[in-house]
Amino acid sequence: MTVIPFYTSTREYAARKAEFDAAVQGVMARGDFILGSEVAELEKECAAYLGAKYAVGVASGSDALVLGADILGFRDGAEVLTPTFTFFASTSCVARLDGKPILVDQDPETLEMDLKDAERRMTKRTAGIIPVHLFNQATPMQRVMDLARKHGLKVLEDAAEAFGMDCQVDGRWKKAGTIAEIGIYSFFPTKTLGGYGDSGLMVTDDEELYRKIKSYRVHGSSVKYHHDYIGYNSRLDTMQAAILRVKLARVDEAIAARARLAARYAERLAAVPGLRFPKVAEGNRPVWYVFNILAPKRDELAAFLKEKGIGSSIYYPIPLHLQKCFAYLGHKKGDFPVAERTCAEILALPIFPELRDDEVDYVCDQVTAFYRG
Ligand SMILES: Cc1ncc(COP(=O)(O)O)c(C=O)c1O
Repeated sequence: MTVIPFYTSTREYAARKAEFDAAVQGVMARGDFILGSEVAELEKECAAYLGAKYAVGVASGSDALVLGADILGFRDGAEVLTPTFTFFASTSCVARLDGKPILVDQDPETLEMDLKDAERRMTKRTAGIIPVHLFNQATPMQRVMDLARKHGLKVLEDAAEAFGMDCQVDGRWKKAGTIAEIGIYSFFPTKTLGGYGDSGLMVTDDEELYRKIKSYRVHGSSVKYHHDYIGYNSRLDTMQAAILRVKLARVDEAIAARARLAARYAERLAAVPGLRFPKVAEGNRPVWYVFNILAPKRDELAAFLKEKGIGSSIYYPIPLHLQKCFAYLGHKKGDFPVAERTCAEILALPIFPELRDDEVDYVCDQVTAFYRG
């Protein structure tokens, strides 16, 4: 039977085994496991790739959000605008610091945060915005930064999914994640630049913020056992850094492979009745971290694909305003209609650089067969 995983790292590892093995063995030979030389090298290479002044490796994208929220003051009653349709960590970072997440609906076409809705929900207590660049494109950052300037807000860019994406701001193309005061990335294995375990990155152009981030990741100290802040233990593991450097060297090839596969999906699924696709807004050069469709009878389709050996995934089945832990925010079903509809229809199809064209064709044939009956 044909089996097409939603995601696998095993093909990549098999193809570049010698490089990955040498990288990991190098760390073991040196024994510099905590903030070793590979971490500093990865930080330099990421900063150069992204066009950011400073990059700091941390333990995960989720930790990066908590450190960023803490440093920017998104805590203790501060209201922070953040989408209801996103991964949990984009919002929990504020909630866990006793800040107040102000949830915002999404644009029905692009699925990014609806900035008109965001502006409507601003109050005197609004301190910041966490735009989340979802799936393949950035939240319109020109408008986010204009809003932030107009209302004196801080911005923490959740670019966990957005490594390599470009967007236009102030007439220039910039990497998503490098526009606001602080941007964060996740190196979760499925990501465009994904490790073989957890890790993440924070970037900034501001030297003072950079020093604070570096200090926060080691318990708020810049000199051992001298603590200026109550920080965290959140360091990017040296082994992961070594693996990520192998992958960063070819990340543009991986991005190009994803683009080719996405174009193949789009072309082959274009005529399937009832299917819709999120639109890429102008001012973006997308990176296809995920290929999503908006599918009628989504759960039946996913079950049908599973029967045919095809993996798929739902990002995200429940919007954050309907999560049990956020009941205290006082929302109910119907409050964010666009996000609720998206959660019922969205389905991610397999996409990773080593996926073959014939596998994409098989997936498309099965999706077509499902709808054509
Ligand atoms: C939008 C978004 N924010 C935050 C995260 C958290 O990153 P991590 O899994 O590295 O903690 C993820 C990914 O999982 C994500 O997709």
